[in-house]
Amino acid sequence: IDELLGEGVEGRRVFVRADLNVPLDGTTITDDGRIRAVVPTVKALADAGARVVVASHLGRPKGAPDPAFSLAPAAARLGELLGTEVAFATDTVGESARATVAGLADGGVAVIENLRFNAGETSKDDAERDAFAEQLAALADLYVGDGFGAVHRKHASVYDLPGKLPHAAGYLIATEVGVLKKLTEDVRRPYAVVLGGSKVSDKLGVIDHLLERADRILIGGGMAYTFLKAQGHEVGSSLLQEDQIPAVLEYLRRAEDRGVEFVLPVDVVVSEGFPDLKAKAPTEHRTVAADAIPAGFMGLDNGPETNKLYASKLADAATVFWNGPMGVFEHPDYADGTRAVAQALVDSPAFTVVGGGDSAAAVRTLGFDENAFGHISTGGGASLEYLEGKQLPGLVALED
Ligand code: 3PG
Repeated sequence: IDELLGEGVEGRRVFVRADLNVPLDGTTITDDGRIRAVVPTVKALADAGARVVVASHLGRPKGAPDPAFSLAPAAARLGELLGTEVAFATDTVGESARATVAGLADGGVAVIENLRFNAGETSKDDAERDAFAEQLAALADLYVGDGFGAVHRKHASVYDLPGKLPHAAGYLIATEVGVLKKLTEDVRRPYAVVLGGSKVSDKLGVIDHLLERADRILIGGGMAYTFLKAQGHEVGSSLLQEDQIPAVLEYLRRAEDRGVEFVLPVDVVVSEGFPDLKAKAPTEHRTVAADAIPAGFMGLDNGPETNKLYASKLADAATVFWNGPMGVFEHPDYADGTRAVAQALVDSPAFTVVGGGDSAAAVRTLGFDENAFGHISTGGGASLEYLEGKQLPGLVALED
């Protein structure tokens, strides 16, 4: 983007593909991290006199307008953060978008409505995606890719559009890629990885890749129960992906062969039912050994012994990557495991990276200062796929 700015962008319409896919409670943004992350790029362009057209997806609407997924709250928040008025187009490539962009003064900023209100954005059909990208291209003269959280998606605004306009990477993408490079090239050791979240199946690729690179892999969250079951323990009514047990056994074998330490919970917090995340009312729960989960009970968080163990495994690491909460952190009864890992990262002198999505939201909603971490990524799936060594369509398109 600095090159683009150096060439001069005054009066030029610049399409900024951001990731404003923030969690919402109705129309209230519960974590604005992704909006704050794109501010430096938008501000630099606006300050240089560009007419900035910000675009993003939000949620997974079905290719048609759906008010529940409107970007209006995100546009308003962007305006607050920039301290300027941000215009909002109520469609993506229609009359409102065209008129809003045409009405921008030099240095002005507009947000257009959710890209996924158009089937062409996410279409698997190249021609359909291309046609939508053409419509988007008509709104701008230049393209800046800065939606790091979406670079793993082969979508029109991420993959097809950059090929139609002179393009550059924004500051956020440059920062994110710089950090992830530190986790893949010349990693400082010991390299510890903490993986949580609900499904083992979401993490297969990254575990496979990390088995060749990490020194220690700590497992928590819903996916831990498939590991415990694979080791022959009963897990009651905990989340379980029975079909993943062969893969898990294979990982455990490979880890042993390679001298990679796999660390699993030694105790867990269990309850008879899943807590109500809205009311957050106190629940009946207790701590049990991880190999003694009673029938009818489900594990919902790491227990205190596990928290101590994990903190000790992170204390002497030189590099830590963490993705996925350790429990149902949205409920206060099951937030300690996630809080303990976050605290261990804060206390550690290691270079610490929190991989986006839920874990990034978790550290902020649990009240941690984000500056206490080496880096909090805005990309969940994107950072995992980067670590898997995959080619990410949104980065490939910007390199061309
Ligand atoms: C994310 O939340 O990881 C990104 O915004 C991408 O969203 P998606 O998984 O709906 O494509």
